[in-house]
Amino acid sequence: MKAVVAGASGGIGQPLSLLLKTCPLIEELALFDVVNTPGVAADLSHISSPAKITGYLPADDGMKKAFSGADIIVIPAGIPRKPGMTRDDLFKINAGIVRDLVQGIAENAPKAYILIISNPVNSTVPIAAEVLKNAGVFDPKKLFGVTTLDVVRAETFVASITGAKNPQETVIPVIGGHSGETIVPLFSQAKPSVSIPSDKLDALVKRVQFGGDEVVEAKQGAGSATLSMAYAGYRFAEKVIKAVKGETGIVEPSFVYLPGVEGGDEIAKATGVDFFSVPIELGTEGVKRAINVVGDANDHEKKLLQVCYDGLKGNVSKGIDFIKNPP
Ligand code: NAI
Repeated sequence: MKAVVAGASGGIGQPLSLLLKTCPLIEELALFDVVNTPGVAADLSHISSPAKITGYLPADDGMKKAFSGADIIVIPAGIPRKPGMTRDDLFKINAGIVRDLVQGIAENAPKAYILIISNPVNSTVPIAAEVLKNAGVFDPKKLFGVTTLDVVRAETFVASITGAKNPQETVIPVIGGHSGETIVPLFSQAKPSVSIPSDKLDALVKRVQFGGDEVVEAKQGAGSATLSMAYAGYRFAEKVIKAVKGETGIVEPSFVYLPGVEGGDEIAKATGVDFFSVPIELGTEGVKRAINVVGDANDHEKKLLQVCYDGLKGNVSKGIDFIKNPP
């Protein structure tokens, strides 16, 4: 199992690389970034876990060396938000970064599982899909937008209301996209079920949708969520790796191209969008099936979903347009 982090020297990339270095399921870990990877790799190489670690910069075919033979590539490359910015404001810079990295994957590791963290995820995942399609190597079962941080936040914030001792034991489907009102937590579908006082529900939903802003404000211009994101990115990557290695019954929401995965057509029809986050059952080939929880939403959640669909459609077409009609 060879894993790669593209954007490995950044705020997310470093702690994510640390977690991946400690994962016993990984034999080889390659770090790629435009700066500092030799240092980060040297530092992590002293950890006595099995993964053999290497660091590459773009010079000397670094991207090719990092990506070749990769089984899973996680992308947290790009600029993060500052106070007052939306994820969409990042598009101008991050769209091109993701396009070029995914082009590199298409050329050097066309069969790799690709996990996209770089924002705006609602647009960067469609960009990745278009690049892979143009290269003739798009496998929708292997392309994931990482929305796990929204799930992690929902687990944490709901526990602050219910008093659950271990927040992770409550499974909450968080669906839709990954920015503001496109993020829709389905608390009515939580397992085990949760009881949220009606005067607290709106604030709870809003906190999951805009939880990232709390971190951006608290960091006062120094960036957005990095440590909680590294945890979330690792959690999702580990699940993909475990499923690929044969573990069954693993389900986690992710932002995928619905028409290309089992069970996806029905959800695309219900939502009117092709890229959408729903609980995904993972298997040895990546996505085994997309689970349709949209129809289970209660009336309050259906209203939230309507707002989500409207926002998401624009974000997705913006990504597709960026590749079809380059600026
Ligand atoms: P950062 O600025 O600390 O790190 C980004 C890294 O990417 C830097 O080391 C930079 O050198 C590298 N980079 C830039 N261009 C590159 C290229 N062409 N190839 C390889 N590496 C390149 O940013 P941070 O805080 O780590 O955030 C990274 C991204 O993750 C941002 O877009 C941010 O919005 C996003 N993010 C996504 C979340 C999610 O839930 N999906 C949550 C939090 C952040």
